Amino acid sequence: MSAVKVGLLGLGTVGAGVVNLLARNHDEIARRAGREIQILHAAARHPDRPRDCSTEHIRLTADPFEVVDNPELEVIVELIGGEEPARELLLRAIDNGKHVVTANKALIAKHGNEIFEHARAKGVTVAFEAAVAGGIPIIKAIREGLAGNRIQSLAGIINGTSNFILTEMFYQQREFADVLAEAQRLGYAEADPTFDIEGVDAAHKLTILASIAFGIPLQFDKVYVEGISQITTDDVAYAQELGYRIKLLGIAHHRGAGAGISLRVHPALVPERRVLANVDGVMNAVMVTGDPVGATLYYGPGAGAGPTASAVVADLVDVARENNMDPEHRVPYLAFQSHDLSDEPVVGVENVETRYYLRMDAQDAPGVLADVARILGDASISIEAILQKQPAPGVDHVPVIILTHRVLEGRMNDAIERIEALETIHGRVTRIRVEHLD
Ligand code: HSE
Repeated sequence: MSAVKVGLLGLGTVGAGVVNLLARNHDEIARRAGREIQILHAAARHPDRPRDCSTEHIRLTADPFEVVDNPELEVIVELIGGEEPARELLLRAIDNGKHVVTANKALIAKHGNEIFEHARAKGVTVAFEAAVAGGIPIIKAIREGLAGNRIQSLAGIINGTSNFILTEMFYQQREFADVLAEAQRLGYAEADPTFDIEGVDAAHKLTILASIAFGIPLQFDKVYVEGISQITTDDVAYAQELGYRIKLLGIAHHRGAGAGISLRVHPALVPERRVLANVDGVMNAVMVTGDPVGATLYYGPGAGAGPTASAVVADLVDVARENNMDPEHRVPYLAFQSHDLSDEPVVGVENVETRYYLRMDAQDAPGVLADVARILGDASISIEAILQKQPAPGVDHVPVIILTHRVLEGRMNDAIERIEALETIHGRVTRIRVEHLD
């Protein structure tokens, strides 16, 4: 059978990883796909620049439209990232009747509904395993491996860069900016690293996972997003003292039929005995709980050339195998047929109930803690633990840390506003949610 002819958009870290992987495991991949997979044409912003891969047999161009318009190609792999021109390029490739494989989570999370409609009309495949959790085949696991289940929740560490930063802050007490620069050097971070540290990248991925898990349309704008830039090494140390680790989590929870789905990305204290608390460095892990399977866990490297290329090539193998299949019989993009997507609403974060870690700078004087406790008590917020640290030399206020039992977010917001209004509390209250994941 003739080779699958592929066009590649982007020859950066991941693009070079894909070229290298197709060469290194050439025979294994061809045996699995039933056909050889050949990259014939690739677009790079600077085609003459030295690369981390051999481009000897690849025609290089600076114009990505030349690649998507090349009639010889069957499949386009999009690895340039960002929304535009990636969206325009993919739509043009689809309109040209080509299958597409992408690692672009922002594109799928924000424009997937439109892209899938185009692909359905043209009878081509859109594959995006590499968009979520790097080398972990999490999309396949939920979409196919768990197809018999009613998914109740998923919770995971789905941004390698932020996990790398939090891990280094925990073990080495390293500065945030210094660790971020290293993550960029290692090719983990997004082109705009604020997407990593402000939770946006994780929210893109959660949007995709939630759609596949619950059969809802992609709804990125409904995800509550908070990043890790406000987390200090003190918070990491206090959390440890209380028996927790701080992780950036993406959580999607189906609250039951008609009760809505909550989608949120934020840092959280996770009990140190939980597996997710011990997922370190650039590793990702996703816990998916379904009926009847129970809790399942998927773990692996979430970013970098090799892991992402592993997912891209798996998609290429699928495309090669499914090429001649009737489109109606392919696995649906979001696990459910498009006409069967659910209209279960996504609820706001104020409706979510969880535990909290509060840190505040309190005047070191009698009655101050009593005032704070009264505000929490008036809001029916029960305290689980309190920690008061020593004041810094020459300072008359002290860090106070409070752990609460479960309370509705909206109620906690009101209480925090009242605590911040106390004259004896300096500045803002730091609030980090506590997730026991049970
Ligand atoms: N910037 C992403 C991360 C890359 O750090 O997880 C993988 O999507």
